[in-house]
Amino acid sequence: MKKISEASVRDIIKKAKSKGMVVPGFNIPYLPMMKPVVQALVDTKTFGLIMVARLEWLKFQSGSMIQIRDEYEKLKNLNFTRLHLDHVPVIDEDNLVTEFEKIISEAIELGYNSVMIDGSRLSLEENIKQTKKIVALAHQANIPVEAELGAVLGHEAGPLPPYEDLFASGKGFTDPEEAKQFAQETQADWLSVAIGNIHGAISAAMREQKKVEARLDIAHLATINYLTGIPLVLHGGTGIRKEYIMQSFQQGISKINIATAIRQPYEKLMNTSVKKAQEAVYNEMIHILQNELEIAGSALKLMD
Ligand code: 13P
Repeated sequence: MKKISEASVRDIIKKAKSKGMVVPGFNIPYLPMMKPVVQALVDTKTFGLIMVARLEWLKFQSGSMIQIRDEYEKLKNLNFTRLHLDHVPVIDEDNLVTEFEKIISEAIELGYNSVMIDGSRLSLEENIKQTKKIVALAHQANIPVEAELGAVLGHEAGPLPPYEDLFASGKGFTDPEEAKQFAQETQADWLSVAIGNIHGAISAAMREQKKVEARLDIAHLATINYLTGIPLVLHGGTGIRKEYIMQSFQQGISKINIATAIRQPYEKLMNTSVKKAQEAVYNEMIHILQNELEIAGSALKLMD
């Protein structure tokens, strides 16, 4: 088998799916967070993705796609890391239309290993149409594409309805038949699904709040997995009850996105001491990899 350092992230995530394992992706809203994130992956021999989303250079302090790429080039270790462009929405959390094609093309030129288009605020037809465009341009460069269907809420500025009401109504959940059609027609490589997961709040007024403990509808996930067959992605990875997370890896979740869990400890200390804030990120990373996801050592197991 190919060494993991030489494997494409597309193959690594395929492998994770076939083994019921997961590749975690960690968001970097502040550039100095990248060092302890990479260090924790290397020290625990875990394979993971370093990620930045458009809202993190606009509303936080990750700078730009170039700055993230440059920092990554300094710190990367191909035995344990790849660089992913997270959420580039077609319509963003403030209802603005973005230059998503331009941003994603730029990321590919800059050397990002995988990209995400988020057309989840569009109609199914429009989401398929825009996602297909991005798949065509990314696949030309042999770069895998993550897409989203259904609404993983939480990034919007207004208050959310009570979580239990959301879960009980299934509002925004990915429709399994639509997911099947979406996967076939777009040829996206990975699909982000809504099955009870929500994003941690990012508006300035709410970003310090403790995130609600989410649950997952595992039966719903299993149906989507059966009908699509492609690796599925769980956004809003912070604060989901562990029993649901562990079950989701057996039902097609092959990538999990985590932001709030490492951002909040950093923000608490960043104005006191960046070094202390970095230590807090490192400690939280070790806890997540070892205790919450139980995937420490995954880089050694993924490719055998
Ligand atoms: P959390 O902030 O809830 O961990 O979600 C992260 C995420 O999904 C980024 O795409």
